[in-house]
Amino acid sequence: MNILFYAKGLDTESWLTAIRSALPDSDTQLWSEQLEESWQADYALLWHPPVELFATQNSLKAIFNLGAGVDALLRLPGRPSEVPIIKLRNAGMDPWMFDYILYGVLHFGRNFDRYRQQQQQQLWQPHPSTAPNVRCIGILGLGALGQTIAQRFSQLGYRVQGWSRGPKCIEGVDTYSGLDYLDDFLGRCDVVVNLLPATAQTFHLLNADRLAQLRHDAVLINAGRGTTVDPDALNDALALGRLRGALLDVFHTEPLPANHPLWARQNVIITPHIAAPTLIKDALEQITADIQSLEQGLFVPRVDSTLGY
Ligand SMILES: NC(=O)c1ccc[n+]([C@@H]2O[C@H](COP(=O)([O-])OP(=O)(O)OC[C@H]3O[C@@H](n4cnc5c(N)ncnc54)[C@H](OP(=O)(O)O)[C@@H]3O)[C@@H](O)[C@H]2O)c1
Repeated sequence: MNILFYAKGLDTESWLTAIRSALPDSDTQLWSEQLEESWQADYALLWHPPVELFATQNSLKAIFNLGAGVDALLRLPGRPSEVPIIKLRNAGMDPWMFDYILYGVLHFGRNFDRYRQQQQQQLWQPHPSTAPNVRCIGILGLGALGQTIAQRFSQLGYRVQGWSRGPKCIEGVDTYSGLDYLDDFLGRCDVVVNLLPATAQTFHLLNADRLAQLRHDAVLINAGRGTTVDPDALNDALALGRLRGALLDVFHTEPLPANHPLWARQNVIITPHIAAPTLIKDALEQITADIQSLEQGLFVPRVDSTLGY
């Protein structure tokens, strides 16, 4: 079996070593323009591949996306649309994503944003905090990550509600689906967590009207994709104090451009798309099991390119 690998920004040497060890009977090659045209891969393990990669590969049985978000791959011109795409389904990311979101919940929930500012003025002034069980965390997107994150917050005693495209049943979580429920959903949240994929349907879902549904001291944590939030509407809501603050990991354009007003906002924490990294060992455990299933003709969940996730 032939495996083709290319991952922009990831540690190529470590990945190649790990793939060769996980699939010792396979011939694993790093893609480059010098790769022999006669060498055809059965499976490609990719992250942000160049457009040229697909030009000479005619035998692919599946493409594995080395991350949870498939928006960049789906947009890539020249991608063979008949080849199924399989993405990482959690693959060890949930503890990282949970930590990231919990940090945001605690930072604003325990007033660390205010105390940081007060420290600069040497001001000793306690603020009341609300107990977890009266704080409502709303999670947009109840997929491989959202479901687990929702459950973990519920287990910590938070009030948790979740919103997805199709109906869900998750213990300890109030679940809603469909746009009809979204405004009321947002109005109940103290913290809104975006874990939706970047699709045509989620583009600017959180626009000015929807952000206006949020409570005045609500917080937005965006660790899904930047395109779900209208950046101008978010900036206005933060500037006007309509939102307490935001923890933002993902943006329309990454890196966030130097002149973007969000960089300078006191009530915003910006991180460079680090909420939940792809973990080599966990990712390869899923991928090798999926390859085995595919080789046996068994079902493996795949990306629906019409839905975009
Ligand atoms: N910042 C980071 O470091 C980082 C790391 C990993 C992932 N991510 C992002 O996090 C996102 C979530 O990851 P995941 O693996 O949990 O994704 P996933 O398994 O594909 O789940 C996506 C969820 O979004 C829901 N959804 C999709 N379109 C919708 C719509 N139009 N209206 C309502 N709900 C909709 C889906 O609903 P159904 O369940 O009904 O289909 C599903 O619950 C990824 O797409 C990725 O972009 C970011």
